[in-house]
Parts: sequence; structure tokens; C-alpha cells
Amino acid sequence: MNQIEIRNLNKVFKTKQHALHALNDVSLTIEKGEMVAIMGTSGSGKTTLLHILGCIDHPSDGSYRLNEMAIEQQSPKALAHIRNRDLGFVMQDFALIDHYSVQKNVLLPLKYMKETKLRKERAARLPALLEKLHIGQKQHEKVMNLSGGQKQRVAIARALINEPDIILADEPTGALDQKTSYEIIQLMRSINQEGKTVIIVTHDPSIAAHCQRIVRIEDGKIIEDGANVV
Ligand SMILES: Nc1ncnc2c1ncn2[C@@H]1O[C@H](COP(=O)(O)OP(=O)(O)OP(=O)(O)O)[C@@H](O)[C@H]1O
Ligand SMILES: [Mg+2]
Repeated sequence: MNQIEIRNLNKVFKTKQHALHALNDVSLTIEKGEMVAIMGTSGSGKTTLLHILGCIDHPSDGSYRLNEMAIEQQSPKALAHIRNRDLGFVMQDFALIDHYSVQKNVLLPLKYMKETKLRKERAARLPALLEKLHIGQKQHEKVMNLSGGQKQRVAIARALINEPDIILADEPTGALDQKTSYEIIQLMRSINQEGKTVIIVTHDPSIAAHCQRIVRIEDGKIIEDGANVV
């Protein structure tokens, strides 16, 4: 099943002086369970694409179907629900709340969950998840007191707590050393092997090498899309 289906998508940012064509006629389909790297130089449109995939931003035109649902037809409330239930986002700038503890940041996505039993079950997994990401000892620490790499792992834990079907990660290893990057990519792979779709924006060829498919984007256009043959 095509979980993600984007057709002829454009994104134009209009400023006072000019219009910037950040995505130019992009079409992309991703099936459930794929692990995809999105690569490209700085400013090529990777984050813009990921924000649209994550229903955080809207395209200027073109269509986006997610799980066979036309995203452009959804109400803001429905989109908030989709984001919370189906998508886990690791932002390029982490987007954590600095004066909240690690625990409070990671549990935020559960706050809006109505099913009390499920919410409790997921919250109960917090210590194991933090342990897996090597930030177990920081559970009660405020995020502002953490290192860049630790913040990145808190952002990853927050994306995973809800067990979403799709993980969207924008440079998830950008601030990490080689060893920790390797651990993070192994974690992403194990999540993928559980059947989840993983989409990672990265500059790092050694991270992309772990993905089955690489999409290259340049000047807002997809210039290459294929299986990662090693
Ligand atoms: N809100 C905005 N308003 C105006 N222009 C924007 C906006 N967001 C992004 N852009 C422009 O769109 C282009 C693509 O930006 P984007 O953030 O998608 O790049 P990127 O590939 O993620 O780069 P990087 O690797 O540096 O993160 C850039 O030229 C950027 O300046
Ligand atoms: Mg970016």
C-alpha cells in the first residue's frame, strides 16, 4: 500500500521582495515499512518537504495523500489528530521545551490522547525508552541542562513514545558523535524492522547507507530516487 503519495507538489514562500520556489513539481510515493533517506545540499528543500509530509506545513499546490486520505481536505483539528496519532517528528532544531524535564518533554504527545488505558501503557514504557537512548539518568533533569546530543535523544524519545506508524527525522544525528550516531541509526533500523516507516533527512552518507532507498533533492526538485545498492 502506498502510505505516502505526493503528486506535483509545489511550495512557494512569498516574502515582500520575492517568491522563493522551495519545492518544484515534486512527486513521491513511499510504501508502509520503507526506510528512506532524503539527501541534498543545504537549502535544497529537505526540511520543507519533511514539514509537508508531517502535516506541519501546507503545499502551495499539488496533492498529498497519507494512508489514502487527502490531506488538503482535512480540518485543522483532524490534522492535529493525524500528527499526534500517526506521525513522530524529530525536528532539526529539536523543538523541546527547555524549562520542562526530560520526562515531561517526552510525555507531551500523550497529553492529547483520549484513551486513558493506552496512554498509561505508553507512559509506562518511558523508563525503558530513555534507557535505550542512554538518557535514563536524565529523566528528571531540565532539558536546558543537557548537551546537544542528549537533547537530540530526548527529541527522538518524544517522537517514539506514541508508537506512530511513520517517523520523520530531520538530521537526527546532526549533533552527535560517530558512535552515538551509529546507535541512533541502529535504533531507527530496529523501529523500521517492527514495520514502521522511517524517513530520515541527512547529509551523512554513512547514515544514508543504512536506508534501503535514497531520494536526492536539489533546488527543490527530486533529481534521483532509487534503491540503495551497496
Ligand atoms: N518560512 C520560510 N520563508 C521563506 N523562505 C523559506 C522558509 N523556509 C524555508 N525557506 C527557503 O526555502 C529553501 C529550502 O529550505 P529548507 O529549510 O527546506 O532547506 P534544507 O534542505 O532543509 O536545508 P538545510 O540542509 O540547511 O537544513 C531555502 O532557500 C530557504 O531559505
Ligand atoms: Mg533542513
